[in-house]
Amino acid sequence: MEISDSQINHFRKYGFFFLPNPFGEEGMREIDRIAQDNERRWEATDWPKGMNRLACQFLMIGEPILRFVEQPQFVEAARRLLNCDRVHVGACGLGDASRIISEDGRPQRQVEWHADGGPDVQQVAFRTALDRHDPTNAPLRILPGTHLRPREEVREELMQVELATGQHDAPPKRLFARHPQEVEVVLDPRWTLVWTPSCWHATGVKTAAGPRRAFGWNYYPSGGRARDVEAVKHVFVRVWETWSEGRKRLWRLTD
Ligand SMILES: [Fe+2]
Repeated sequence: MEISDSQINHFRKYGFFFLPNPFGEEGMREIDRIAQDNERRWEATDWPKGMNRLACQFLMIGEPILRFVEQPQFVEAARRLLNCDRVHVGACGLGDASRIISEDGRPQRQVEWHADGGPDVQQVAFRTALDRHDPTNAPLRILPGTHLRPREEVREELMQVELATGQHDAPPKRLFARHPQEVEVVLDPRWTLVWTPSCWHATGVKTAAGPRRAFGWNYYPSGGRARDVEAVKHVFVRVWETWSEGRKRLWRLTD
């Protein structure tokens, strides 16, 4: 999974590129099987307040997923993309983020335009779908290049595109309208999306029945975000202390 300079350039300029799925059919089957076996237990668990439930579901995959995340080829790719010596995993997740976000009672199962970060936040996320995210299955929509632009400027642009739909009496709080430059990512399990969540993104509406699962994790340079440390300690309670120094460092459990 050697990444090329032109892929790196595309990532830096536009915020994303695609890799052939590096897990292979067997790896995907294994992750899928474990995820399905875990699902009931995950759903029935009363996770501590404020803990990222999708991170817990990811970590419950256990050893097979940890081994993937720490593979030198991923770590090396992340270092090159972020142009730094050392990276750690600061966030991860498995499941359907559109479902969690829609729990606030919004009328449609859809995530509004937002950026998880901005021009000052360096990060790279690897995202692979377990189920194909078709246009009817709330596909991720990315606005290329917006990871480089001031947040207020992009928000204003999306607001104007939203108001141009003629549907509103007043400026709405959440923005969903299609931007002429957006890329709708029909994420097929054959491909892994490598992207920065500092780039503005939203989803389409989920109208299709059935699952919309994906899994992924984010690498950050030293000093970057470490959102899911508590989830790691919780899921691997009494185990993480026995991990190798390298694994601990990668998950930001030690410096
Ligand atoms: Fe997001």
